[in-house]
Amino acid sequence: MKVTVIGLGYVGSVAAAGLAAAGHDVVGVDIDRARVKAFTAGRVPIYEPDLGKIVAEGMASRHLLFRHADEFVGSAGDVVLVATGTPPTPTGAADLDQVRAAIAWVKTAQPRGCVIAVKSTVPPGTGRRLKETLLRHNSFQYVSNPEFLREGQAVHDWFHPDRIVIGGSAPAAVEAVRSLYSGIKAPVVVTDTSSAEMIKYAANAFLATRISLINEIAALCDRLGASIDDVVSGIGLDPRIGRHFLRAGVGYGGSCFPKDVRAFDQLALNNAYSFELLRAVITVNNRQRLLPIYALRERFASLSNLDVAVLGASFKPNTDDVRESPALDAVPLLVDEGARVRIYDPVAGEQARTRLPGSVEITGTLVECVRGTQAILLLTEWSEFLEADWEGLANLVAEPRFLFDGRNALDPSKMLTLGYEYCGIGRGNHRLTGALATPRAAVP
Ligand code: UDX
Repeated sequence: MKVTVIGLGYVGSVAAAGLAAAGHDVVGVDIDRARVKAFTAGRVPIYEPDLGKIVAEGMASRHLLFRHADEFVGSAGDVVLVATGTPPTPTGAADLDQVRAAIAWVKTAQPRGCVIAVKSTVPPGTGRRLKETLLRHNSFQYVSNPEFLREGQAVHDWFHPDRIVIGGSAPAAVEAVRSLYSGIKAPVVVTDTSSAEMIKYAANAFLATRISLINEIAALCDRLGASIDDVVSGIGLDPRIGRHFLRAGVGYGGSCFPKDVRAFDQLALNNAYSFELLRAVITVNNRQRLLPIYALRERFASLSNLDVAVLGASFKPNTDDVRESPALDAVPLLVDEGARVRIYDPVAGEQARTRLPGSVEITGTLVECVRGTQAILLLTEWSEFLEADWEGLANLVAEPRFLFDGRNALDPSKMLTLGYEYCGIGRGNHRLTGALATPRAAVP
């Protein structure tokens, strides 16, 4: 099948290369010249494991090519996938300008009509409205086809999805989208466009709720001397609960959860409904992101001239995406309070630069980052940090070797034995108010 994919971000580029791998003839289109140039030259301009490999294979097999939107010639094909961004407006609602522009482009590039399958995350009801407005009186069929790709695992998720969701009213259009995925084994949920759009928002809201719920329970664990690790083991064995998305930490970030959860809240308000639970999820997440600074304020009388190492800049490991990264929230506050901050990330250092105060030093190695600092904040659980020689590093770090593990990624007793003042989240040794509790492992 001939397919055009509009928008070469994390979702669009993976979709384009994934469809090419299945033998479809795919053109990836974008309005960003530098991005199109990079893909055309075989350079993937984003860090996404395995994407470079499938892009190269797609180009070598001639099933995949890239074009700037202004230079596109010929037919856009039977199905056009829209994977443009839906950034937040100042109110938090989803800005649909890029989606509308993509649809306008399709109408010009493919005047005879085609199936327009929207992967971009849009508020429920968007497809119905677009059909009544932009796509009225013509031969375009609108289908909602939300994506559930996790950054860092997007290529794997493309080929092994949990489900494929297709929302549309025209059976032929639904079948055309279904056939794009004919080589992939996964349950297919066919529904109307609004329900398909709602599935995406509901999934993000549900997962974000789990994270905020476990973070609330972790806060109580700290106050009551319980262990969040054991609590999760205990509740996770209940098949009605499971262990997924119950990792306490400095909160969720990234290009999806924060934006989509806020947009869902705004959508509810626009429809005369106050989504109280979702508001609490957002409030808890905002608080979690400040835990590193609360912990430092509790431990040190003043942050002025304190040397702090921040480990991690991306919103999670295996991506260079720093959008809404909890790791970067704390840094400007630390700088404001007079701390001298260094930061190290295995891949996202450069991406972080524009988000950081000028005084922050971005180091090229973990060792340079921690050397001589009194406090370490581990905020992204890159495997490089998990596997680091913490014993060797302890010799480079100055007293009191305060180690805030914002992702509960390290072994507390090992870190205490190595001489760090270890502080995790919900591991019974951290309080948000009052002095830090005595580390559990040190209690006789
Ligand atoms: C998410 C959805 O998982 C995906 O289906 C959707 O298409 C896009 O949004 P992504 O943003 O790539 O994917 O990251 P994800 O792995 O879901 O993590 C989101 C954030 O939640 C990260 O900051 C992560 O650190 C945090 N998180 C995740 C927790 O704090 N605790 C958890 O238990 C899980």
